[in-house]
Amino acid sequence: MSANGKKVVLPKFAESPGQAIDGLLTLEEMAYPDTSALQPTDVLVAVKSTSVSFVDLIMMTGQYQHMAEPPFTPGLEYSGEVIWVGSDVVRFEVGDRVMSDFMTVGPRSKGAYRHYGGWASYAVAPENGVLPIPDGYDFDEGCALLGSYETPYFALVKRANIQPGESVLITGASGAAGMSAVQMAKLLGATVIATGRSDEKLAAVKAFGADHVINTSPRDGEDGVPRFREDVKACTNGEGVDVVYDAVGGDVGHEALRSLAFGGRFIIVGWTSNVADSGGRATFEPDRLPTNIMQMKCLQVMGSPMVIYSMRHPEYRAGQLKQILTWAEQSKLRPHISHRFPLEQFRDAARAKLNGKISGSCVLSL
Ligand SMILES: NC(=O)c1ccc[n+]([C@@H]2O[C@H](COP(=O)([O-])OP(=O)(O)OC[C@H]3O[C@@H](n4cnc5c(N)ncnc54)[C@H](OP(=O)(O)O)[C@@H]3O)[C@@H](O)[C@H]2O)c1
Repeated sequence: MSANGKKVVLPKFAESPGQAIDGLLTLEEMAYPDTSALQPTDVLVAVKSTSVSFVDLIMMTGQYQHMAEPPFTPGLEYSGEVIWVGSDVVRFEVGDRVMSDFMTVGPRSKGAYRHYGGWASYAVAPENGVLPIPDGYDFDEGCALLGSYETPYFALVKRANIQPGESVLITGASGAAGMSAVQMAKLLGATVIATGRSDEKLAAVKAFGADHVINTSPRDGEDGVPRFREDVKACTNGEGVDVVYDAVGGDVGHEALRSLAFGGRFIIVGWTSNVADSGGRATFEPDRLPTNIMQMKCLQVMGSPMVIYSMRHPEYRAGQLKQILTWAEQSKLRPHISHRFPLEQFRDAARAKLNGKISGSCVLSL
């Protein structure tokens, strides 16, 4: 096989995701990799599907905590078919369906494989950098599985230690890490209250399993995020929730903190509401949460840096991966993918993600 392919390239960091999408990203020819130059433990993957994630977008600006190294091909996660294996590869053969491990390969990783992002026809990985796609999963679902589900597993199981019968408030529930959190929290036996700003996307969140949904857009005649703590209390017998899974931060995160029951746990997952429009990393202003509320309500506020923790504790991650893959094989977890685009329409796909059109995951197909 020697067919040439194509790849998307970011030549340098942008000021904003919008600038990257409109002005910097290019679609280039990609030569079929020279397999004689690869390692004997490598596999070559013909990419079939790759995700377009929030982290992909902010990584283009250098605002993300892990700095990729331009020029690079975006695409934290991909799935595809093995088309070549090195002489020492034991776990895979040509024709196998695999998905990438974004901590070992692609722009979220360190080392030799960081330049092989998923927005490309071909990707090279060491054999321990890919996993078999669970039975019954297609390529699109394969590239949207690990990042989405490892995030809530770490937050809800490892950090919050959520128990059956508890209640959880999930902010940004229509996002990739939000939808997966809704599904996982239900699997863990929790009552789920989900927030978002679009009735249409919240309908998708409810159809995906949320017990209650709350729209956090400004209400009639008012500005800003409403006092939705009252709505949360109405869903929890006036008590407030046991756990908050906050992927939004800012005013939504602040109000979510005030929606907790006495002794509740607040899990910091992300801050989609707090992305600088320009200026890269230097302009980032972290959220500030009120210590008086934490003190008077006896709250536990916890960071939940899933990737950083998993990289520091590979033995922990092995169990996390095993549980997620088991649930996936049992069809208890299945990513919600609202939009699919051909690779050539990567600008439309990235714009749709940036402009909040996606519920769950967005996938590019090759
Ligand atoms: N802790 C970890 O280990 C970990 C791992 C992965 C990701 N993350 C972080 O988790 C966050 C969510 O990631 P994701 O992949 O789910 O992102 P996503 O797919 O883009 O979804 C985020 C959701 O947040 C809401 N949102 C976006 N901008 C907002 C704003 N200005 N104000 C209020 N709500 C807003 C949107 O919902 P509506 O339009 O419905 O409001 C959107 O669906 C990010 O900050 C990401 O960096 C953390």
